[in-house]
Amino acid sequence: RMEKSKKYQDIHLEAARFYFANLLKGKNPGYDYLRKRGLDDKTIKKFGLGFSQKSWNELMDYLLSKGYDKQDLVQCGLVNHKSEGNKYYDRFRNRVMFPIFDYRGNVIGFGGRVLDDSLPKYLNSPDSLIFNKRYNLYGLNFSRKNIVDRTIILVEGYMDLISLFQYGVRNVVATLGTALTEQQGNLIKRYADTAIISYDSDEAGIKATLRAIEILSKIGINVKVINLKDCKDPDEFVRKYGLEEYKKAIGDSTHYIKFRIDHLKKSFNLQKDEERVKFAKEASKIIKELKSPVEVDYYTNYIAKQINISTESIKKEVYGKDYNKV
Ligand code: GTP
Ligand code: MN
Ligand code: MN
Ligand code: MN
Ligand code: MN
Repeated sequence: RMEKSKKYQDIHLEAARFYFANLLKGKNPGYDYLRKRGLDDKTIKKFGLGFSQKSWNELMDYLLSKGYDKQDLVQCGLVNHKSEGNKYYDRFRNRVMFPIFDYRGNVIGFGGRVLDDSLPKYLNSPDSLIFNKRYNLYGLNFSRKNIVDRTIILVEGYMDLISLFQYGVRNVVATLGTALTEQQGNLIKRYADTAIISYDSDEAGIKATLRAIEILSKIGINVKVINLKDCKDPDEFVRKYGLEEYKKAIGDSTHYIKFRIDHLKKSFNLQKDEERVKFAKEASKIIKELKSPVEVDYYTNYIAKQINISTESIKKEVYGKDYNKV
């Protein structure tokens, strides 16, 4: 098994080198694409970005010529096998390639992006002997040496992380669009006590943020959320406003309890009395999760201020019959 893992890592490294070499060959559409998206040569090299040609078998033929076994390539998810007609073909074709590293820096998978608007936008390696999505965080191999104050920034995508790195924000990891898992949360806890979530500002991003808050706060991580103003993701933000503004956004990031209250507030019409009461009740449930009396006081006031209900009665709602004991 150890030997097999080593072999699969070698296959991935060979593949990454192959895709990288493609990118630098002549006039390459993948290279043009990455440059158009603002990445410089140094960044492209650091992250080992590459290109898979519009071909059904270029990678397979190359790796076979290196002496690797076809079945191993299939097991690595680099080659697909169609049992009908017994056909083998490259999984990644005509895509910009992002090697996925483990925290030590071994290549264990790939993400491939189309150069236009066709779907699926990204294709990722399937789980394999050496790649388990639930346990891995993209970019951790680069960021772990750059974590200061045990604070880590969480983003959704490859381009978000790479862009931030290029601009000089280097304590970042990406969850690659899937919901944050408990295992990834535990991995974060090894390196950080504070996580700043910087997911996309769309509906899916907000949903993923709420889910990540749930997981991370349960583990005992202090969670905050960045506000990206009018931008859809951190890549767009840092390119539009620059490093200093992004740092400012980090400094201004919202405590997760406030983020949850603000999000909850959106689903009520606070002009109506009954809705204000409902909001107060639901918001009280969030307050109940807090352990620190100072925080309880602070966020109770925050709720009260917005709906013209006394702090006193919200505290009664939070603590029920035990109110007199606090
Ligand atoms: P760009 O459009 O290149 O800037 O990518 P993005 O990262 O902004 O895309 P998006 O916010 O849609 O997705 C975030 C991350 O989710 C991506 O980086 C991918 O890892 C993953 N993802 C996005 N689309 C797909 C898809 O169609 N299939 C899969 N498997 N993953 C996806
Ligand atoms: Mn998407
Ligand atoms: Mn997104
Ligand atoms: Mn993007
Ligand atoms: Mn995005």
